[in-house]
Formats: sequence, C-alpha cells, structure tokens
Amino acid sequence: MDVQNLTREELVAIASWYADVGIDLTVGELPRDRFAEAAAEPARAERRQPAEASVPVPQSQGRVAPRDLARPSATAAPPPDEATRTARELAAAAHSLDELRAALENFDGCALKRTANRLVFADGNPQARIMLVGEAPGADEDRQGLPFVGRAGQLLDMMLRAIDMDRSHVYIANVVPWRPPGNRTPSPQETAICLPFIHRQIALVDPAIVVCLGGSAAQTLLGLKEGIMRARGVWRDFTVEGEGGRTIRALATLHPAYLLRQPAHKRLAWRDLRELKRAVAKL
Ligand code: URA
Repeated sequence: MDVQNLTREELVAIASWYADVGIDLTVGELPRDRFAEAAAEPARAERRQPAEASVPVPQSQGRVAPRDLARPSATAAPPPDEATRTARELAAAAHSLDELRAALENFDGCALKRTANRLVFADGNPQARIMLVGEAPGADEDRQGLPFVGRAGQLLDMMLRAIDMDRSHVYIANVVPWRPPGNRTPSPQETAICLPFIHRQIALVDPAIVVCLGGSAAQTLLGLKEGIMRARGVWRDFTVEGEGGRTIRALATLHPAYLLRQPAHKRLAWRDLRELKRAVAKL
C-alpha cells in the first residue's frame, strides 16, 4: 500500500483500526518478517565462531559490575533458554536493588525491552514490610518508568488509603518490568525470562508479606493453577528462588484494572485488604 496516495480520512481510519486491535506503537519504518528471521537464526548461529555465539555471563563469583552484565553487540534476543539462564545468573549476582536495576538495564534477553520506552523497576519504599507485585506495566507506566501510575494505579492508591496506607508503606513492582505492546498479557516465555529478576527483587526487599495483584502474578509467583477468584484472599507461601526454600507469606487479590471493569467485585478486594490490614497489625 502506498500511503502517499491515501487521504487524511483514510490514514485516520487505518490508525484507529490499528488502535482498536491493540497496535499502538511503531517499531520501524518498514515491515519485518521476524518469523523468517527466527527460522534463519539457527543456521547463522552454526556459522558463527563459538566465542561469538555465546552470551557473555559474569565469570566472577563475587559482585559483578553492572557494565559487565551487558550483551555488548546483541541485535537479536538470545534463545529463550539461554536468556533465562543469563537472567538467573545476573539476578543472583545483584546484591542490592541498584545493582539489580542496572542488571535489568543491561539485559537484552527479553524482546519486550525493544518495544518498551522505559524499564519500569519499582516505586514505593524499599524498606516496606509489604511488597505488591503486578503483571506488567501499561502505557502510562511505560511513559513514566513507574509502576501503577495509570487509572489502575489511581485505584490502587485509593485501595491503600482505605487501609490507612500509601506508597510509603509498600514497595511496588511487576513480574515483567517492560510493557508488552498493546498491553497484551506477557507470553509464558517472556514471563519465564523475567522471573529470576522479580524473585531477586523480592529477596532483596525482603518484605514480610507479598501481595500478588491479579491472577497472572499469583499464578507466576505462587505456582497456582486456579483462577484469581478461587486463589484470592487465602494466605500462602511464596518460595524465594535460590534461597534454600526460604518462604514469605503471600496473599493474592484482584487486580485494580480488573476492578475498574468489574466494580461489583470491589467488595471482594475490600475483604482481602482488611485481611492484609489485620496481618500488618500483627507484624
Ligand atoms: N498493571 C500492572 O500489572 N502493573 C502496572 O504497573 C500497571 C498496570
């Protein structure tokens, strides 16, 4: 299609059709067949020298300088298993939240990073006893680089206020720290690649309570199979990866974005919030 010949009305109609189907950003001037590129990748990898083909991983057992964690000349994301392995090594090598943020800034293993504007690492108080974990950032979060700052975030603030809290009482992050295009659900592969980082983030914050916001975070972090309606409001154990089976108390509740669509279910979220407040009073 030669867009030069289209009228303004036709261009607006195309743009609004894209927006309706969830395509709300452009990543290049020309279309690219990434399926064909992925199919060609194994053959290209075989022709590469072994040293060039491997992902650089930290060699030292001790602290790793953030710059050492980068994939210096990567143009395509590495295969998922390799990316997950690298993510695990980088996450384990981070000994502070600043190091973890730097590791994520330098990590190129998750393709979402290439379409997102910003890394959305965290908000709130890193010393908080409560950590809230959502699914992935949306458009507002992607613009500002902070989690839960859009409409769902405003509702989350009101939910916190209802139990006499604000962001200074909690630390907030997401399972996936980059916005999936069009706010789609992160794929299982994207989630698996990012998982070591959120596990490490939880371990470094070391909260007394983890609250999973929505079914996706609950299923990913707590390994639940059931939907959020069954999973919510029940205390569970979150097992911190790589920490010898250490557990943290965890509660799942409804995602504020879901509550915006289903306001009648706010009463269920309110029950969970009161349960959280009771538990916090006993800390
Ligand atoms: N939804 C999420 O799960 N996380 C955010 O940061 C914003 C919306």
